[in-house]
Amino acid sequence: MTLTPAAGGGCGESAPPPPIQSPRPVNSDVEWDSFDPQAYVRHNYAVLRADDREILCRTRDFLAEAKLSGAHCVDVGSGANLYPALSLLPFARTIDLCDWSTSNVSWLRTQIDSYDELWDPYWQVCAEHPAYSALTDPRGRLARVGRVLRASVFDAPKHAWDAGTMFFVACSISADRAEAERAIGRFLGALRPGSPFAVAVMLGSRGYSVGQRLFPAVALRRAEVVASIAAGAYDLAVHEVRLTPPLRDGYLSMLLTTGRTRGQCRA
Ligand SMILES: C[S@@+](CC[C@H](N)C(=O)[O-])C[C@H]1O[C@@H](n2cnc3c(N)ncnc32)[C@H](O)[C@@H]1O
Repeated sequence: MTLTPAAGGGCGESAPPPPIQSPRPVNSDVEWDSFDPQAYVRHNYAVLRADDREILCRTRDFLAEAKLSGAHCVDVGSGANLYPALSLLPFARTIDLCDWSTSNVSWLRTQIDSYDELWDPYWQVCAEHPAYSALTDPRGRLARVGRVLRASVFDAPKHAWDAGTMFFVACSISADRAEAERAIGRFLGALRPGSPFAVAVMLGSRGYSVGQRLFPAVALRRAEVVASIAAGAYDLAVHEVRLTPPLRDGYLSMLLTTGRTRGQCRA
């Protein structure tokens, strides 16, 4: 996914996004219900980009190696992106897709019933791996195992799931570095000890537009993301993916980290 830079960004609309009042908004300052999932999907996922393909391939290969089956899975901050949930699909008894925005929750509910064709290329990437190609009806499977919850990462229960994904959330839910770290801690703590997980973040993000709205972000650095994850996990594999084509302002790269959760997590 690409997040449109706050400066000079937008989806071609002429009016500038309304300003956020606080210079460094925290999560609770933001009007998440005004997040426009259609605009977000159009801008970020209408065409499968090389960087998302790489993130998806690496997540797929990691989960296929993790020897999971019949797992209770979670995708935190799903927003308007189904590919993390698709990556969990063959191994899942249930997948909880959680988001705090009511507009994204409504979008997710319509999508898990029968997802749009736009997501078929993402599943085709998954199905290049035999662990996924054995599943012939991903649309039907997601409708059976998927469940959409309006829930905040900051209220996530402890040790509730067996595997999880959290993509472009820690970097993109506020401008507060401490909240990014707390979101990672809560996500890892929500998984049972030893659970496989994948976390993707944008590095160096300074905010993003969705349609007419501006949303905050925090310009995370690779070392601090890895340190936050390492506090609650082991067997980490870290991959930095450069944006293609590179974006002008505000973004450096995407960082995907996979691993397994420890028994005790900071939160
Ligand atoms: C940049 S979007 C990422 C969406 C999606 N995971 C993706 O990969 O494109 C950030 C998401 O975090 C959600 N969000 C914001 N605050 C949250 C919170 N406290 N708990 C869970 N999700 C939250 C937003 O509604 C939005 O869907």
